Amino acid sequence: MSVLVISPGRDPEAWVQELKNQHPGMQIFAYPEEHNKEDIEYAIAWKHPRGIFKNYPNLKVIASMGAGVDHITSDPEIPKNVTITRIIDDQLTLDMSAFVLALVMNHLRNLSFHHNHKSWEPTNYLKIEDQNIGVMGVGVLGSAVVKTLTNVGFKVSGWATQPKPQSDVTIFGKDQLDEFLGQTTIVVCLLPLTQQTENILNKELFKKLPKGAYIINVARGQHLVEHDLLEMVDTGHLSGASLDVFRKEPLPEEHPFWQHPKISITPHIASVTDPKKVVPQLVENYIRMTEGKPVKNIVKREKGY
Ligand code: GLV
Repeated sequence: MSVLVISPGRDPEAWVQELKNQHPGMQIFAYPEEHNKEDIEYAIAWKHPRGIFKNYPNLKVIASMGAGVDHITSDPEIPKNVTITRIIDDQLTLDMSAFVLALVMNHLRNLSFHHNHKSWEPTNYLKIEDQNIGVMGVGVLGSAVVKTLTNVGFKVSGWATQPKPQSDVTIFGKDQLDEFLGQTTIVVCLLPLTQQTENILNKELFKKLPKGAYIINVARGQHLVEHDLLEMVDTGHLSGASLDVFRKEPLPEEHPFWQHPKISITPHIASVTDPKKVVPQLVENYIRMTEGKPVKNIVKREKGY
């Protein structure tokens, strides 16, 4: 019974080392290291080569290295009997909340303006109390962001495609998107990427926001129709955007977002998994799997998250 760490384009060494430290007996292979496919029962994956897992007859669990699982669920060739898990981690959650708060405050206070313009003149700024932040996607990360922003004093609401348990803020349902958008001045996208949510940040949606609304995307690049955003910012309907994720990453040098004065770019850093922090939950699930117990943080495959 062996473990495969598979993350082309991302060095697996830190993961392998941490797994060895925290579970010395574990037999681990770092793809593309030579290994016997029949021995692999547990895979720890980030953007695996499409279709590869159908060749692993004894694979039981694929664990995502991150909170997102679209890089796994979007592969139609993953056998139906394989369980997919994701990471739920306090550090990831805290980092995401802090990052979104930083982006929101940067938008309100335009923090680099004085430095960029060598200006000592105070400028007008947007007030916390005038904002209605609308968080799209109120799962683990989204609900933590709602809480952080609420604690700072923002009016916050959420939009969820599935009914949510009791919340301190208004959570608009799937059919209340127009109502949600009509009162939102800053959109924060934290939706999982599924067939239903791909391209959701498009011109039709932007038009339903009040003039001057601002977009923050910290979910996935595929949520956003990039040319629709550019058009709506250039016509002045949207005041700008902060984007941490892109359809193509790294964002190509010639991409118009780099030059756009109203679009801020960060390189997919909102919350990055620290192998040291999350290997304990991967090891716990590995042990549960070997003991025939149900693993934790399971992704509902029919929903895609
Ligand atoms: C990062 O994007 C993740 O899904 O953890």
